[in-house]
Amino acid sequence: MKKLFTLSIIAAALLFASCTNGSQQGKGAGSYQPIETPVPARPAGQKHVLGLRAPKLDTVRVGFIGLGMRGRGAVERFTHIPGTKIVALCDLHADRVERSQEILEKAGLPRAAAYSGSEEAWKELCKREDIDLVYIATDWVHHAPMLIYAMEQGKHAASEVPAAMTLEEIWDVINTAERTQKHCMQLENCVYDFFELTTLNMAQQGVLGEILYAEGAYIHMLEDFWEEYEGDWRMEYNKKHRGDIYATHGMGPACQVLDIHRGDKMNYLVAMDSKPVSIPAYLKAKRGEEVTDFQNGQHTMTMIRTEKGKTIHIQHDVASPRPYSRMYQVQGTKGFASKYPREGYALKADAVEKDAVPNHEKITGHSYVPEEVKRGLMEKYKHPIHIEIEETAKKVGGHGGMDYVMDYRLIYCLQNGLPLDMDVYDLAEWCCLAPLTALSLENNSAPVAVPDFTRGHWNDVKGFRHAFAN
Ligand SMILES: NC(=O)c1ccc[n+]([C@@H]2O[C@H](COP(=O)([O-])OP(=O)(O)OC[C@H]3O[C@@H](n4cnc5c(N)ncnc54)[C@H](O)[C@@H]3O)[C@@H](O)[C@H]2O)c1
Repeated sequence: MKKLFTLSIIAAALLFASCTNGSQQGKGAGSYQPIETPVPARPAGQKHVLGLRAPKLDTVRVGFIGLGMRGRGAVERFTHIPGTKIVALCDLHADRVERSQEILEKAGLPRAAAYSGSEEAWKELCKREDIDLVYIATDWVHHAPMLIYAMEQGKHAASEVPAAMTLEEIWDVINTAERTQKHCMQLENCVYDFFELTTLNMAQQGVLGEILYAEGAYIHMLEDFWEEYEGDWRMEYNKKHRGDIYATHGMGPACQVLDIHRGDKMNYLVAMDSKPVSIPAYLKAKRGEEVTDFQNGQHTMTMIRTEKGKTIHIQHDVASPRPYSRMYQVQGTKGFASKYPREGYALKADAVEKDAVPNHEKITGHSYVPEEVKRGLMEKYKHPIHIEIEETAKKVGGHGGMDYVMDYRLIYCLQNGLPLDMDVYDLAEWCCLAPLTALSLENNSAPVAVPDFTRGHWNDVKGFRHAFAN
């Protein structure tokens, strides 16, 4: 008996040693390998688009597809961006196109060419010779086909989030961008939020030490919005799909601060969800609909481990009554940043020089820095992008200004022939949570490998940085 016990301990110790070693190395050593999905080979002669630069455009001529709640706001913002021309507008519904024309008229701009009335009218917009950029804000299932078609017509393309929903779409979008060498950007606005961008700047300047983990989320009860989406597209998608189907607001800021595909890469993820309750109950109460096989979990959690041993934790919950949150928490060896539920920083005393902020003596690693210190830090580390356009962004608005900053940067980079802030591999990495978390959930939360969407180039660029003309 005693001998058996000793043998079990030795076996357990050996197992533990192999697991510990495996997890520390991040190689997944041991017999439990992540589920892999196919990675199509890069076609011969096709080149990656890391750091892609396109010829400078004095005036960026834009066509908009999808003029619902979000698209209309984009048209309005573009009336404030110098060096742009709104050439064409498209929506299924003529009255929505007309409402956007009114925005142009109000801004003293000429009416744009109008496309509506058919599911395919947007293709005519993409074919126009006088457009440089196609800007897409339709429902989720149209984004990838529209991006692909626009690039095939020789246009740069940008799409609202999420820009692609399946792995097949993601690889098609990447291959089209690489084949055409056109810019393809996902319109992720949250990376331009004032707190997120300031924190990114602090992290890039080493104030937080080595960044070890980041959290992000989309926690937003959508009961006030469900009835507003054209053709009920958002509810339909949630009914049919399990997994984190709206991950990009959390993923974007987390991946930028962790230099994903600029020196690190995500290796694998695991996901877990709680059963769906509130949305099926809403459907019964509001619409008298009995949905017994509602797929999207009440709350979905995803954990990701990177090649360099960092972690990301992402949450999705559009069902539960609780305050809006994108979480955005960043942990480094010298400090911590949190946007939700409380916005603030905690730092070790040696993270900032004595005369850099007021009341330096109040800085400790185990509580939030006082409000005046936080203000001092945010002023000192204000990002150059915000220094340049904060005032206009706050005036024009759109989620407190970050929407305007996003559009402004897209146009600025196109005008100056610079790489865009977000490339097609960011699009792929931030969108892949939808299909990969579904795969994990369908397999009892098994680890699922995150493909290297750059196909071998994730370590070519050393650190994420925004490009500037001078
Ligand atoms: N980044 C953000 O903060 C943010 C905020 C809200 C919405 N969004 C995203 O914006 C997108 C649009 O959301 P929304 O709230 O405006 O939805 P919406 O339903 O109000 O608008 C979608 C529009 O697309 C149009 N459309 C659909 N199919 C079309 C086609 N074939 N041709 C032309 N037009 C077509 C519809 O008629 C509708 O007007 C979604 O991807 C959503 O996730 C992002």
